[in-house]
Amino acid sequence: MKIEKAERLKKLPPYLFKELDKKKADVAAKGVDIIDLGVGDPDMPTPSHIVKSLQTAATDPENQKYPSYSGMNIFKESAANWLNKRFNLDMEASSNLITLIGSKEGIAHLPLALINPGDIVLIPDPAYPVYLSATIFAGGEPYLMPLLEKNNYLPDFKKIPEDILKKTKLMFLNYPNNPTSAVADIGFFENVAAFAKKHNIIVCHDAAYTEMYFDEIIPPSFLQAKGAMDIGIEFHSLSKTYNMTGWRIGFAAGNPDLIQALGQVKSNIDSGVFDAIQCAGITALEDDQSCIEEMRFIYSERRDVLLKGLADIGLNAKKPEATFYVWIKIPDGTGAADFSSILFEKTGILSTPGNGFGKYGEGYIRMALTVGVGRFKQAIKRMEKAMPDIKKALNIS
Ligand SMILES: Cc1ncc(COP(=O)(O)O)c(C=O)c1O
Repeated sequence: MKIEKAERLKKLPPYLFKELDKKKADVAAKGVDIIDLGVGDPDMPTPSHIVKSLQTAATDPENQKYPSYSGMNIFKESAANWLNKRFNLDMEASSNLITLIGSKEGIAHLPLALINPGDIVLIPDPAYPVYLSATIFAGGEPYLMPLLEKNNYLPDFKKIPEDILKKTKLMFLNYPNNPTSAVADIGFFENVAAFAKKHNIIVCHDAAYTEMYFDEIIPPSFLQAKGAMDIGIEFHSLSKTYNMTGWRIGFAAGNPDLIQALGQVKSNIDSGVFDAIQCAGITALEDDQSCIEEMRFIYSERRDVLLKGLADIGLNAKKPEATFYVWIKIPDGTGAADFSSILFEKTGILSTPGNGFGKYGEGYIRMALTVGVGRFKQAIKRMEKAMPDIKKALNIS
């Protein structure tokens, strides 16, 4: 029998990281030493006090049963306290919080809770691909908001036509931003909240990178903006902050009706996060936070080495104030996919073509700061050496 996939799968663009994995496997099979700056997965281990906490919690039979759908109260209390302390909020665990199997899971399920076929969803471009796929799965109509360098990678709401706004139900935002590394300030979030309230739009803010900042700017929460709790839900993740990407734990916070609606979808699809992982999550959020300081130092050192090296070979990159991504402008007239592919072929350095995050990412590639300083120095040397070859292959001067 020929397996015919559902129409919703046919509507999806190819999942970017799956393509990258395939390319990587092909090149690795040829014995090339790959420097993987493609996917944003921390190279450092989960801090040992968090691992120990899981080991202990996993031996408790109480933790081996089905978890509660919306998460352990003690985890949600811990997450609420963390938010309240970090952002000066007033979150209450039972009504404003829900535990997630990683923030991706919650983000992907949210449109199923809110979107009817034909509802418009505002999606930034370039962006983390899940906003678009989740919208398509729910039968929503995506409307892309370009994130342009000249606007500091913030959307320009004035450009969205009135007839689109009338049909818009939901808007996705993400700051600090993947892939551009842009940070939004509280003034921007105040404007978002006022705009969304005026047009009856729910705001889903993806806050996966709020703790990955390097300099003076400390990223705010959207929920700090006036009126945000009337229309907003924010997604947080332990993945990058505590090097816990494989553990699958995050949480959403915000308006109680939105939390309840998301919970209703989830309770019909999944059965929550393993309690022992939630116990380890509490340890992560409540114990010594010096691991985050160390992480910031390590990433900022790598960032500086990479930026200097890129400048030396004539590539222009925005200095990231947050996230562990470097958004690099490629020479005019070159396609991002071609540049990334030729770079990989000639140097073994894997980057992500910007257009994989949407059409407005064309003209850029993204590198993740997920290898050590020594590997970055090696990468720079390889690029320096290969640049004439790369330019020749791409027909640029
Ligand atoms: C912008 C953004 N949001 C969410 C996620 C998902 O994180 P999690 O591991 O919590 O599912 C990622 C992961 O790369 C991301 O880049």
